[in-house]
Amino acid sequence: MNAHHLIDLNDISVEQWDALIRLAADIRLNPRDYMGRCRGRIMATLFYEPSTRTQMSFQAAMLRLGGEIIGFDNPGNSSVSKGESLKDTVRIVSGYSDLIVMRHPQEGAAKAASMYSLCPVINAGDGGHLHPTQTLTDLVTLSNEKGSLSGLKIGVCGDIKYGRTVHSLIKAMCKFSGNVFYLISTPELGVPGYIKEVMSSSGCGCLEVNSLEECIGELDVLYMTRIQRERFATPEEYERNRGVYILDRKKLSKAKADLSIMHPLPRVDEIEDAIDDDRRAVYYRQAVFGMYARMALILRMLEEDVITAKGFGKPIDGAVCTNPRCITHTEHYLPGCFSQEGGASSCCYCDTRLA
Ligand code: NCD
Repeated sequence: MNAHHLIDLNDISVEQWDALIRLAADIRLNPRDYMGRCRGRIMATLFYEPSTRTQMSFQAAMLRLGGEIIGFDNPGNSSVSKGESLKDTVRIVSGYSDLIVMRHPQEGAAKAASMYSLCPVINAGDGGHLHPTQTLTDLVTLSNEKGSLSGLKIGVCGDIKYGRTVHSLIKAMCKFSGNVFYLISTPELGVPGYIKEVMSSSGCGCLEVNSLEECIGELDVLYMTRIQRERFATPEEYERNRGVYILDRKKLSKAKADLSIMHPLPRVDEIEDAIDDDRRAVYYRQAVFGMYARMALILRMLEEDVITAKGFGKPIDGAVCTNPRCITHTEHYLPGCFSQEGGASSCCYCDTRLA
């Protein structure tokens, strides 16, 4: 299979991110030049989890490029409800389309899909793991709002344990010099160990703080996230963490005049509505940048052979992934695979380190 996939934004180089950011800017300024560039091509959107922005911005992007779309946004209306495996669904749909965009509740699902697909697969979110096209959206947004991706003080606030958008964003921003992260969460909702390791090995600064008030005055960017009810193992765990971080006008009064408030959306209650009209609120513009970012990505993936798949690891005798949310626990035909780096082994699907 010759497909080239985008499972993790780090599958492609910083130079390629930069080219995508520049292409997205050009498409935004000259949309007519890109009309019809994907005529005759079909993109399938396989959404096993709810979505508004990611799904519709991908669909709008393909339609604006002149392509067609097929797919489902409710697996209950597809043969998934009859027990069809991920492998079979992907194998079949990839025979009907030129590109698959997939969102799935299980971590590592996009990687698993890419192993059986005849066409390129884009990860549109795999459980609490990664969300590379949201990060591409965020890089386009930050380039526009800040003019630079380096030397920024970035607060990430809320559910940064299960928040896949934050994981992908941190992995990406660690590639640029001088960025410092303020991790604003409850001890229960802190970032996973592998993300901490990415920060420490890249040399990016990182501070753990408990409240927005403590650090808001220092930030250039505040990336708010929703406490994701659907990711918690128990309702009690969710109840303990909901409503802890709310950005209101009082807290915002301590922030810099050029702070950029970002949010992948949907918002529940973590940003007060009154802030929407503040010039520092970037989240609605961010969602529009997402469509241009995805237009750029679709074009590059369909027109040029620039995306290269990351190498796959090796099985380890008797080893199984310890992450209960890993796709290997529900799609049992998947071969166990672990990559070895610095003496530690991690699951090739969901990045969880073996103990
Ligand atoms: C996020 C997601 O689905 O991970 N939204 C998005 O893609 N724009 C964040 C969320 O659901 O809270």
